[in-house]
Amino acid sequence: MVENNGIKGLDTILVIDFGGQYSQLIARRIRELRVYSEMVPYDTPLKEIKARKPKGFIFSGSPYSLGGSRFPAVTRDYLTMGIPILGICYGMQLIASLLGGKITASGSNEYGKTEVSLDIGSPLFDDLRPAEICWMSHKDSVEKIPKPFKVIASTPNLPIAGIGNEQDKIYGIQFHPEVMHTPSGMDILRNFLFHICECSPNWTTVSIIEKRVNQIKEKVKGGRVVCGLSGGVDSSVAALLVNKAVADKLTCIFVDHGLLRMGEAEQVEKTFRENFKVNLISVKAQDRFLKKLKNVTDPEQKRKIIGNEFIRIFEEEAKKIDQVDYLVQGTLYSDVIESGTRDAAKIKSHHNVGGLPEDMALKLIEPLRFLFKDEVRKLGAELGLPDDIVWRQPFPGPGLAIRIIGEVTAERIGMLQKADLIVLEEIKRADLYEKIWQSFAVLLCIRSVGVMGDERTYAYPIAIRAVNSEDAMTADWVRLPYDIIERISNRIINEVEGVNRVVYDISSKPPSTIEWE
Ligand code: XMP
Repeated sequence: MVENNGIKGLDTILVIDFGGQYSQLIARRIRELRVYSEMVPYDTPLKEIKARKPKGFIFSGSPYSLGGSRFPAVTRDYLTMGIPILGICYGMQLIASLLGGKITASGSNEYGKTEVSLDIGSPLFDDLRPAEICWMSHKDSVEKIPKPFKVIASTPNLPIAGIGNEQDKIYGIQFHPEVMHTPSGMDILRNFLFHICECSPNWTTVSIIEKRVNQIKEKVKGGRVVCGLSGGVDSSVAALLVNKAVADKLTCIFVDHGLLRMGEAEQVEKTFRENFKVNLISVKAQDRFLKKLKNVTDPEQKRKIIGNEFIRIFEEEAKKIDQVDYLVQGTLYSDVIESGTRDAAKIKSHHNVGGLPEDMALKLIEPLRFLFKDEVRKLGAELGLPDDIVWRQPFPGPGLAIRIIGEVTAERIGMLQKADLIVLEEIKRADLYEKIWQSFAVLLCIRSVGVMGDERTYAYPIAIRAVNSEDAMTADWVRLPYDIIERISNRIINEVEGVNRVVYDISSKPPSTIEWE
């Protein structure tokens, strides 16, 4: 069952997801144009889809081929609902195939930037130039279009790169308007939203606040709620939204699992007690987590153990409060997607999604589940959160455990905390902290030979990671100035006992991920 997130009176575009790599990016781009959009699995029952009263559909791409033995599809019903549709890549091929067109494997894969000739008489290409650079990534293509479609885009290699049926407002494009490599992509989406679907740009942070607060009120019905607070922007915004809805029925629980940055636990407590009128319980659980993590080296197992332990502690604390039914979490859309939707591959179990125990007694409230990080930051500012929380760099729930490769021990946590603090201090000193998505240290489990004074050393390396990203779905390594890298390296090697080497991680996501585990 798809959770109904549409807001009454707000126009909604549903991205029908066939497992495409960029499906969530499409939803994000639409929201950037201030229209509410969400991705829903392709096999969602039509009744649920209709109940959402969408103003338009976007059919996503897919790793599957319509010529294969198994592929995701929807029925022709979508095409007769009178709701505008834009099919992208596989989405266009599916539209053509459902209506009797012909799809073929084009023989050669087409991948990369291509100049596409556009029929600028089509409402989809209003205000565009007759030829635009577009991003292609496909194997199959449409060979014959169904009636009464017209070809509205083509390239020398691909005679049918876009199709349109103005009467029924159904369109398809073989290229991807949602990626940056299609410079006029946002204009195409804008035309679809505002000229074809006739949406109003009325999706704002204020509307999210109102909607979420009302939804939470309805769901909780006067019951008591606990919220896992980490001090990061996500859980803080989630807590404030719930606080607005249920006032003092909310108790925030801050678990110090001993895997936080140096001094962070004290700082989080201080900030919350001083800034917010919320009930706050602080649980010191360092030993408990360390014991559970003893001898564990597998990243997924670490994540599962930590997720599990978090929930157990919440449950224990919740039992001490009367009648608690709900647990609030600051889970984001990117956490949900990366933990594996049915159609996208599972990358890792984010501690607050895939790491949850199956027999959990508390019911979840996740008011940010359909928001991207930048949207949450805007929301935080709107709710009056201090800048140092709104702009705090993301920190993973499992904390330093997933930045210590190999076994997590008290000694190794201490080493990493010291190295991490140096990175943070130097990045802040260079006035880069708010300009970089994330910057941190990773402690590796191998040792290498060095020389210090006249002595041979055999010690651990620290890897420095600094990445830029819009929403953590993709990331690029930051070209930090050499003198900053040098200062960080010198300080770590001099100040952190047990470390004799520093390396700089120059991999992007994909193919790497931001965290090492
Ligand atoms: P990856 O390593 O998957 O990380 O590229 C993407 C973003 O998510 C953060 N991250 C987490 N956040 N719980 C969280 O709250 C987790 O289990 C978790 N794992 C990764 C990571 O720091 C990056 O910002």
